[in-house]
Amino acid sequence: MTASQTNPILIALDVSSAKAALALADTLRGTVGGFKIGSQLFTAEGPSIVRALAERGDRVFLDLKFHDIPNTVAGAIESASHLGAWMMNVHASGGAAMMAAAVEAAGRAEAAGRPRPLVIAVTVLTSMNAETLSSVSVNRSPIDQVVHLAQMAQSSGMDGVVASPLETAAIRQACGPDFLIVTPGIRGGSAEQSSGRQDQSRTMAPGEAMRAGASFLVVGRPITGAADPRAAAEAIAAEATSR
Ligand code: C5P
Repeated sequence: MTASQTNPILIALDVSSAKAALALADTLRGTVGGFKIGSQLFTAEGPSIVRALAERGDRVFLDLKFHDIPNTVAGAIESASHLGAWMMNVHASGGAAMMAAAVEAAGRAEAAGRPRPLVIAVTVLTSMNAETLSSVSVNRSPIDQVVHLAQMAQSSGMDGVVASPLETAAIRQACGPDFLIVTPGIRGGSAEQSSGRQDQSRTMAPGEAMRAGASFLVVGRPITGAADPRAAAEAIAAEATSR
């Protein structure tokens, strides 16, 4: 196992050009555990940016949050596995059959000789609260809905979920030690020195989020916006792993 495979920091490449993404990756390679490509970069540059990073040996979390009928989601997971993505995600609210189809597609990638990608679920978007949930006819509290969807993801065979730091402990308790929890919203501690809080409000410091049960931390601006991104990444990774 290389150092990057034990490093829990995944860098959010929230930029809109391949040039900027590759420059960031070149700067940070070796200090972090992987790179997250979301809809901004993917929509601008397409699959070639995923291939480019995978070919350099980077772990790529393709954060496209698939949400469609099971057959279509399975096809998307299969296509993403051909690009060499290491982790990918779907919306848990697409239902158990949709998640099971995603898991099956990940298994087919392995059967065809490609590495089996990790498939994780988004539970409730952290931009939603009790009021917005109720407006889409979900009458559970946000945390109850998060735990409900995490358990549904787990019983569908998903590898884990994306969760805000404040939800992490409840999911860890409900889903046990082996379920992956990928946590954004990292601020404070070594992630506060180089950057403000920006638009994140429900945050935790890197060490705190890991102690709450996170498996991976998604960090963007506290590293990508730092005067010295490599030093910021090293400080945050050190804090995250010093348990
Ligand atoms: O720059 P920052 O550290 O806030 O970036 C966090 C990344 O995690 C962004 O790509 C953002 O879209 C993503 N994210 C988040 N909160 C969630 C889910 C994803 O901040 N609940």
